[in-house]
Amino acid sequence: MRMPWSLRSALTAYFGILALFGQAKSFETTVTLSLQEYWNEYVGPIEVADINTTVEATPIPPRELIPPPGLYYPSYPTGQQVPIQKKNESWSFPKDFMFGVASAAYQVEGAAKDEGKGPSIWDALSHRKPGFITTNETADVADNQYYLYKQDIARIAAMGVKVYAFSIAWSRIFPFGSGQVNEQGLAHYEDMINTCLQYGVKPAVTLYHWDMPLALQNSYGGLLSPNFIPDFVEYARVIFTRFGDKVDFFTTFNEPSVFCATFPYPEGFFKPTTIPDKQQQFFCSQHVLLAHSQAYHLAKSELNLTAKITIKLNGGYKIPLTNSTADAEATQRSWDFYEGLFANPVFLDGDYPASVKEHVSSFLPPLTDDQKALIKGSADVFAHDSYTSQFNMAPEGGIAACLANVSDPLYPTCANSSYTYAAADGGWNIGPAADPGVAWLHKATDWVPRLMSYIQETWKPRDGIVIAEFGFAEPFEQQKTVLGDILFDQARQAYYRDYMEAVLIALAEGTNVIGTFAWSLIDNLEWNSGNSIKFGLQYVNLTTQQRYYKASFFEYANAFKVYQEQ
Ligand SMILES: *[C@@H]1O[C@H](CO)[C@@H](O)[C@H](O)[C@H]1NC(C)=O
Ligand SMILES: *[C@@H]1O[C@H](CO)[C@@H](O)[C@H](O)[C@H]1NC(C)=O
Ligand SMILES: *[C@@H]1O[C@H](CO)[C@@H](O)[C@H](O)[C@H]1NC(C)=O
Ligand SMILES: *[C@@H]1O[C@H](CO)[C@@H](O)[C@H](O)[C@H]1NC(C)=O
Ligand SMILES: *[C@@H]1O[C@H](CO)[C@@H](O)[C@H](O)[C@H]1NC(C)=O
Ligand SMILES: *[C@@H]1O[C@H](CO)[C@@H](O)[C@H](O)[C@H]1NC(C)=O
Ligand SMILES: *[C@@H]1O[C@H](CO)[C@@H](O)[C@H](O)[C@H]1NC(C)=O
Ligand SMILES: *[C@@H]1O[C@H](CO)[C@@H](O)[C@H](O)[C@H]1NC(C)=O
Repeated sequence: MRMPWSLRSALTAYFGILALFGQAKSFETTVTLSLQEYWNEYVGPIEVADINTTVEATPIPPRELIPPPGLYYPSYPTGQQVPIQKKNESWSFPKDFMFGVASAAYQVEGAAKDEGKGPSIWDALSHRKPGFITTNETADVADNQYYLYKQDIARIAAMGVKVYAFSIAWSRIFPFGSGQVNEQGLAHYEDMINTCLQYGVKPAVTLYHWDMPLALQNSYGGLLSPNFIPDFVEYARVIFTRFGDKVDFFTTFNEPSVFCATFPYPEGFFKPTTIPDKQQQFFCSQHVLLAHSQAYHLAKSELNLTAKITIKLNGGYKIPLTNSTADAEATQRSWDFYEGLFANPVFLDGDYPASVKEHVSSFLPPLTDDQKALIKGSADVFAHDSYTSQFNMAPEGGIAACLANVSDPLYPTCANSSYTYAAADGGWNIGPAADPGVAWLHKATDWVPRLMSYIQETWKPRDGIVIAEFGFAEPFEQQKTVLGDILFDQARQAYYRDYMEAVLIALAEGTNVIGTFAWSLIDNLEWNSGNSIKFGLQYVNLTTQQRYYKASFFEYANAFKVYQEQ
């Protein structure tokens, strides 16, 4: 039964011990705030959507499911036939392949303050740090998926997609990050999961997709403090206990290489830390590894979950720019400081790569034997977000000079990167560029089979590899105003077509890829870029909240229609 929940009374006891740091004040004090007062103090007024109750799904009109004429390879046969090309009989997706689409809570949900949700760091930064999101937008309303999830799930099912990978907003479950549980938040995700199952769509749930509860950031610095670990594990316990019998794929953390490297946060914004800027990433990473592995063992050994549990890493295939020894060494350092920082401990020996260990030994406590034993083997599959690939090369002054200079912008990885071939190889881009607002993204689908075999051979995941995000920002899409023009997203179509063929090639070569989660289900608030960058397989008219399938969604679905084993 759902209990009416009085926030102030429920939280006072816990909150009495929480220290708050007034930004303009030079002293530290302890006060008691209700959730409402906490929002007012740290975030301010929140925009509210017109629709603020859950909307029932309506059937998807058959008209909307007619594919566009001529997917990526247009000419023969023309028209709207599916399949649209001759099948390669050497290719297939295994019967249980996890064909999915993905999103993240902060980017799509909206309802920022509804039903007992506490603020996250993104609510605070988007409201109180002008320019942090370059467009000065917030995700107060976003795609309003908090109320529109039934229709979103119906639209996923209508395209034949088998998995919806989404994240849970921690501060909906624990408004202050720890302490009192908000039953309304749990009930919301329970209905979302039930709705998925009702439509034959498997839910794949991420626990942490960057939306740190603000109270944990304010009270102890979030991921920079070891206090984070028990709070995360407690949150994981609540989620695993409630949903462990319905969800068979969980990821603990999304892209720690990215969120740990976003430190330092804007000067003076959150609780100050004594950890030097360039060390923060490694403290964060260590806390992530410890929190992840504890959550894994809690699920497997204590709660007896049969679900696959993993951590979601990211990065492209790393290609040495030239055949020089220095470029090979730079490329290895790039693997080590990016994927290896997490993948070596989790999939190999419980410890960091040698180059990382050498770097962190002067400031970071080494992992103890007990910690290593806990971390080693704490993931069933290798979940990897793989959008692109890049070339790596030694810095111009050499790796040794960079390692000796903490002020070098490339320190401590001391590997440079580039999206163009060496001049001697023609100097071309690795592939066509995405939107100019996403400088890191070029289509490089031809490297996907190499990346998959590299992951399999290097880290040997026991249950295979999931490509947990991949996608493309159609160039200049936000400048288009005519609906029909927006929906015909040819660069993204080409990307999905070639990417899925690359996965089929990887499978034919014997790499154990078990699923692909396309990013993203719908256009959404792209973090610091706001709504200016579009990754959606569906367009969302933010005035009406109406969703529309783009051509690329048909392209993605088509790969599966043609190649899935029955
Ligand atoms: C929900 O929307 C209705 C109608 O616009 C409004 O009267 C009500 O105050 C809203 N509720 C919340 C919690 O925002
Ligand atoms: C965002 O706000 C900042 C500070 O008010 C301002 O300088 C900047 O021009 C704004 N950006 C946009 C895109 O409006
Ligand atoms: C998990 O399994 C162990 C061993 O069978 C058992 O002792 C324990 O009670 C189980 N825990 C739960 C939560 O079912
Ligand atoms: C390295 O590349 C250069 C230029 O492309 C080529 O001449 C040379 O033979 C290569 N060396 C090796 C060992 O492959
Ligand atoms: C890194 O590579 C870029 C070209 O991609 C180059 O402009 C820059 O000077 C290089 N930096 C160093 C330190 O080598
Ligand atoms: C260290 O790197 C900084 C930033 O690139 C540079 O200004 C400085 O000259 C370098 N120091 C040495 C000793 O090379
Ligand atoms: C979005 O909806 C508004 C309101 O109905 C409409 O005026 C606008 O043209 C729509 N935008 C597109 C691109 O269809
Ligand atoms: C069919 O797939 C095989 C195995 O990946 C590949 O070697 C071959 O080139 C493909 N044929 C065509 C026409 O794409």
